[in-house]
Amino acid sequence: MASNLKWPPVLALIVLLAAGMVGIASAGNIAVYWGQNGNEGTLADACNSGNYAYILIAFLTTFGNGQTPVLNLAGHCDPSSGGCTGLTSDIQACQSQGIKVLLSLGGSGGYYGLSSTDDANSVASYLWDNFLGGSGSSRPLGSAVLDGIDLDIENGNSAHYDDLANALKANNNVLLTAAPQCPYPDASLGPALQTGLFDNVWIQFYNNPGCEYVNGDDSNLVSAWSTWTSSVQAGKFYLGLPASTQAAGSGYIQPGDLTGTVIPAINGIGSYGGIMLWSRYYDVLNNYSGQVKGGV
Ligand SMILES: *[C@@H]1O[C@H](CO)[C@@H](O)[C@H](O)[C@H]1NC(C)=O
Repeated sequence: MASNLKWPPVLALIVLLAAGMVGIASAGNIAVYWGQNGNEGTLADACNSGNYAYILIAFLTTFGNGQTPVLNLAGHCDPSSGGCTGLTSDIQACQSQGIKVLLSLGGSGGYYGLSSTDDANSVASYLWDNFLGGSGSSRPLGSAVLDGIDLDIENGNSAHYDDLANALKANNNVLLTAAPQCPYPDASLGPALQTGLFDNVWIQFYNNPGCEYVNGDDSNLVSAWSTWTSSVQAGKFYLGLPASTQAAGSGYIQPGDLTGTVIPAINGIGSYGGIMLWSRYYDVLNNYSGQVKGGV
C-alpha cells in the first residue's frame, strides 16, 4: 500500500513544478514612468506596491547642443536647488527590492537634441558623472547610482542618439532602454535602435491609432509588434500602454482584454518582456498594474 500511495503525490509535484516553470517563463514584467505628477505618491511607494520591475524617472527635459541639462520632476521636488537629492534613499530602497531604476531622457516637451558625436559623448559623460557610476559634484538625485538610461525621444530629431547609445554602452553595466512610438520605424529613435545595443524597448502603443488595439481587434497591434520584434535587435520588447483612459488620447486596453486577448497574441512573437505603463499617476488612479500583473 505504501508504495502505491507514493506515486500520485510525486506526479502531482512534477506537474506543479512544470506548471510553475511555464508560469515563470511566460510571466512578464511591468515598467512604469514616475516623476511627472506630484500627486502620484513617492518613488518608495511605487516600489513598495510590488507591481513593478522597472521605474523610469521622468524626465531629463533639457540636454544636448551644449545646454546645461535640466531635470524636471514636476511637483515632486526642485532639482535646481538640490531639492531632489533626498530621492537617493528611495532609489536605493527600490534597488534593494531588485527593481531597476533608470533616468528617462526627453519626453513630449522639453528642449533637447544632439548636435554632433562630441555633443553625444559629452551628454554621456554628464549622465555617467551625475546619475550613474561616476562622481560628479552636483548629482541631482544624490549619491544613488541609477541602473541605466531610457530614451523617450519624441521630437523627430534622431541625429546622434546612436552615438549616445554607443557611449553609454561603453560601460556594460549601464542598462539602456527606449520608448519609440509603434509606427515602424520610429522617427526619433530609429537609427539609435539599429545599433542593437538596447536592453529593453518599450513601444508606445498609444496616441498612435494606426497600430493600436481597437474594439476587440488586435490585428494592427499584432502586426506592428511583429514588425518591431523582427526588425530591431534588442534584449526584450514591452507593450507600452496608458494606465487609464485619461492617460493618453487613445490606446487604453481594458485589463481583461489585455490579459485575455492581447498578451496571449503577442507573447510568442519575438522576445516579449512584459508591459510598460504611462504613468505611475494614472496607475494609482486605476490600479491597472494591480489588475493585470498576474496575466502579463
Ligand atoms: C488592485 O487590484 C487587485 C486585483 O483586483 C486587488 O487585489 C488589489 O487589492 C487592488 N489594489 C488596490 C490598491 O485597489
